[in-house]
Parts: sequence; structure tokens; C-alpha cells
Amino acid sequence: HRRNDLAGETVLITAGGTREALDPVRFLGNRSSGKMGYALAEAAERRGARVILVTAPTALRPPANVEVVPVVTTEEMRHAVLGRVDQASVVIKAAAVADYKPKMKADQKLKRKGGLTLELEPTEDILAEVAQRRHPEMLVVGFAAETENPVVHGRDKLLRKGADAIVLNDVSREGIGFDSDRNAVTFLTRDTAIDLPEMSKRELADRILEEVIALRRPSLVM
Ligand code: PMT
Repeated sequence: HRRNDLAGETVLITAGGTREALDPVRFLGNRSSGKMGYALAEAAERRGARVILVTAPTALRPPANVEVVPVVTTEEMRHAVLGRVDQASVVIKAAAVADYKPKMKADQKLKRKGGLTLELEPTEDILAEVAQRRHPEMLVVGFAAETENPVVHGRDKLLRKGADAIVLNDVSREGIGFDSDRNAVTFLTRDTAIDLPEMSKRELADRILEEVIALRRPSLVM
């Protein structure tokens, strides 16, 4: 069923794992399937939002009635996001973005001979840049995949990156998080931590959006 509680909002969502090429056939990537971000895009559309989905490669079918912007690398995702962020009233960064990229990309396929040492350099932090460029009405929601002390590291990320909320994934737990159809998260703001227990990513997408809507309209929460 459709609710219209996101009517009038433009929600920009990132999904999937960015890839950094080593040579023409190999890349550094991560385990993100894009399921969480796509579920959020579908749920936001059902709730009446205009949705822009900036997506790294996934095996998923693009959701209907959503503006899909395909990207591969972190730099492409950064361009796609920063070029559209001024249209957005809500930004949700569910993508797993590569934190490092190879310093050099080989023009030809690397040959196997002995050991190989890769030199990596950090990528730009898209979430932090979005938060810097935000207009006053914009809500900025990040995700954080943590394997230890999730709440401590999640709050640190929230403050450091200047987000309104961080959706915290404890990716050390079996059966949830990367690639699974299920997930459990903590929705962290500066002063609250709301546990959203294990459920399908589709259900969770709606619960996350309800928390985002509550941030948007604090006056309606009595
Ligand atoms: O895709 P699925 O298989 O469904 O899995 C979902 C998920 C586990 C990938 C997802 O829910 C999740 O946790 N995404 C964030 C993963 C991540 O990159 O976390 P991080 O702690 O490294 O990054 C924190 C935040 O900063 C994220 O919002 C990320 O998009 C953003 N970031 C990170 C690095 C960078 N260079 N730029 C960024 O914007």
C-alpha cells in the first residue's frame, strides 16, 4: 500500500559497493549487494518521494519510478552525488564506498610474476562533503558498517562526518548485513539510539524511513 508521508521530498540514496580498478580486468571491491539501498529506494518511492538512486554495480533489477544513476568508482559516485545533492531534501548513503584506491591503474592486465605490492591512497569522503554542502532543510543520513564497538564508532562517525543520523550495521553478526535479505541496525542520532531488530531489508527500509520522517517533523512526535 502507498502512504504519502514523503510526498514533496526528493530522496537521494546511494547503494552497492564501489569498485577501484587495478588493471583492465581486476578491481578492489567489497561485499555490498545493494539490497539495503534498493529496498530504501523502493520504500521511499512507495511513500511518495521523488527518488534518485546512485548505484554502484549490483545484480539487482532497478526499482520502478526511480531515477537510476549507475556508477562504478568512488570518484564517479562522488560526482553523481555532488552533482545532484542540491535537488535533495534527504540524502541516505547506504553504499559501501571504497576507502582506498590503487595509486596507479595498470593499462594492461598485470602478469603474475612473484609477489605484488599494491600502493593505495585514500578516496574522498562523499558523506562528509555532502554534509559540508548541505542546505538547512536537508537531512543527511549515513550508514556505518562496524565490526567492533559499533555504537562508539558509529557516534564518532556521525559527529566527524556531520550527519544527522547513522544507521549502524554490526557486520560481525552472522546472517545479517552484507548480501543477506535480512538486517538489524541501530538508528543513531546525536542523542538517541533506536534498536531496529532483525527483519527483512524491505521491512527495515520502511522502519528507517519512519525514523527519518520523525527527524524531519519533530513537532509531530509528541
Ligand atoms: O548492500 P547490502 O548487501 O544490502 O549491505 C548493506 C550494507 C551493509 C553495505 C549497508 O547497510 C552499509 O552498512 N553501508 C555502509 C557501508 C560502509 O561503507 O560503511 P563505512 O563505515 O565504511 O562508511 C560510513 C559512511 O560513509 C557510509 O554512509 C558510506 O557511504 C560513507 N562513505 C564512506 C567512505 C567514503 N569514501 N565516502 C563515503 O561517503
